[in-house]
Amino acid sequence: MCGIVGYIGPRNATPIILNGLKRLEYRGYDSAGLAVLDGDRIEVRRDAGKLARLEEIVAQDPIAGAPGIGHTRWATHGAPSARNAHPHLGNSGQVVVVHNGIVENYLELREELDAEGVRFDSETDTETIVHLVEHLQSSGLDLADASRQAFCRLKGANVVVLMSLAEPDKIVAARIGNAGGVVIGIGEEEMFAASDIPAILEHTRQVIFLESRQMAVIDCSGAQVQTLDGHPVPAQVHTISWDPVAAEKGEYRHFMQKEIHEQVRSLTDTLAGRVDFENGAVNLPELNLTPEKARQVERIFITACGTAAYAGMVGKILIERIARIPCSVEIGSEFRYSNPLLKATDAVLAISQSGETADTLAAMEEGRRQGATLWSIVNAIGSQAMRLADGYISMQTGPEIGVASTKAFTAPLVDLYMLAVLLADLRGVLPDGGRRALVSDLRLVPDLAGRTLEREAEVEKIAASLKDVRDCLFLGRGINMPVAYEGALKLKEISYVHAEGYPAGEMKHGPIALIDEHMPVVCLAPKDPWYDKMISQIQQAKARGGTVIAVASDGDELAAAMADHILYVPETPWMLSPVVTVLPLQLLAYHIAALRGLDVDQPRNLAKSVTVE
Ligand code: AGP
Repeated sequence: MCGIVGYIGPRNATPIILNGLKRLEYRGYDSAGLAVLDGDRIEVRRDAGKLARLEEIVAQDPIAGAPGIGHTRWATHGAPSARNAHPHLGNSGQVVVVHNGIVENYLELREELDAEGVRFDSETDTETIVHLVEHLQSSGLDLADASRQAFCRLKGANVVVLMSLAEPDKIVAARIGNAGGVVIGIGEEEMFAASDIPAILEHTRQVIFLESRQMAVIDCSGAQVQTLDGHPVPAQVHTISWDPVAAEKGEYRHFMQKEIHEQVRSLTDTLAGRVDFENGAVNLPELNLTPEKARQVERIFITACGTAAYAGMVGKILIERIARIPCSVEIGSEFRYSNPLLKATDAVLAISQSGETADTLAAMEEGRRQGATLWSIVNAIGSQAMRLADGYISMQTGPEIGVASTKAFTAPLVDLYMLAVLLADLRGVLPDGGRRALVSDLRLVPDLAGRTLEREAEVEKIAASLKDVRDCLFLGRGINMPVAYEGALKLKEISYVHAEGYPAGEMKHGPIALIDEHMPVVCLAPKDPWYDKMISQIQQAKARGGTVIAVASDGDELAAAMADHILYVPETPWMLSPVVTVLPLQLLAYHIAALRGLDVDQPRNLAKSVTVE
């Protein structure tokens, strides 16, 4: 989604904004621009294209000063072009705005402003905001009131940052609904506003998160937060513990490759402080789960999108098998409109790396509306999915920059396993010693992942043989069926290959007609309760001329003899096997995309956080 950076203070805003926007590039965008107060004028530079294009423009026609605001745009209304790029300046050049989200009633507002003689220069919905503020300011309102009244006119989910010549010692930021976050950074006699933490982390770790329907009037000394009804809100300051270097690539070619290899660390971190290996116990304090609440829960609805939904499918099997609670997985974009029949004894569990996915948040709000308990498993601290929930589990993977989720798939698998163990323990459904055995298996996970990732070279060889593949099937059963879906998603979203994940048992009901010598088939066949079925699946695929790549447990010579390529993984307790079996699939997708010379970290048409419908 779009990136926003704002600055107010004694320094030149231009380089601060450009560098901040670079740290948000992973969000996906098609245009970029910035505006600064340069002397007594608001100067704007903007164009379609990447930040390199904007830097060229600024080098040719420099601007310097403060305050300033900048933006990377992911087009929703109006094609990528200079005139549709943000920032947008009002007709009198008094106010300038950057914006994330969609003004759902922009046509109505545009007609109203047209009738007032306002000139529109772009096709964007954003422009209605700047003209509204300028119009209200010209009627005598100060910047705060003019902004607040304008924000109250907007329908839909929106984030706005603006500044005005009339009050050049301020910038204003606002959040309405779930169009991504607004984080306000607190510096020494300088302040920042951004759509995500990495943009300002080099300047400050003290931040304030705006909630929905809140705005902040920001000057060099601080931020005054208020609701859109004008009621002051005491600002809660958070300290970000991330290491800024964590948001850099290091010796890797792409963030995705780095994040694949970070999984030993991120799996260790997601366990840290939550597992007592001595006493075989799990502790998830942020979940606020009491024994009474654990016993009350009758059903769990897991809701998520994309990769997070596939993690949820694994979670369903874990929660039902370990905690004996009926569990279903509901795709966020469907759940929000399916009129679900929820009860107060139900729990809705959202899984979201960004914590800002509009469909997942809307599904949570549907759960809230019907009185269900809301839990979430999130990575982004301070995100809406974290703050909406009655209790949450932090993935604790650190920033995931690559658009394709990797560590934000494996961490929630462990979080879901821990949740299942905790629920089972509190409900008293674990046999004596059962909890200790389950917890003890957790200890193995980081090492098993590390040993698997050490085999990258073998995956790279197979990737080379599949570099020009046009279609690919991923088959799995039971707890590894969602891993087949995830492996297919990884391949399709970064290499643009048509890849399909399928329940292996379903192949004979039609899709097996697809298999021939042009159709590589990845079969997930680790030693788990479905192993024998998967072996016969490999035979069926081979009998039809398919090229089979089998993911199998170390030492499995039968699978090796049957498949064309073998990707061994260490033998793993079956309920934790997806954490390991997904790793060669992440690497396979990565190397095929890299060999095809594609933009691995920012694949076409995709955004890291889909904060619009
Ligand atoms: C996965 O690689 C994709 N980036 C996408 O499917 C993602 O998982 C989905 O958009 C959900 O994002 P979230 O976890 O931030 O909610």
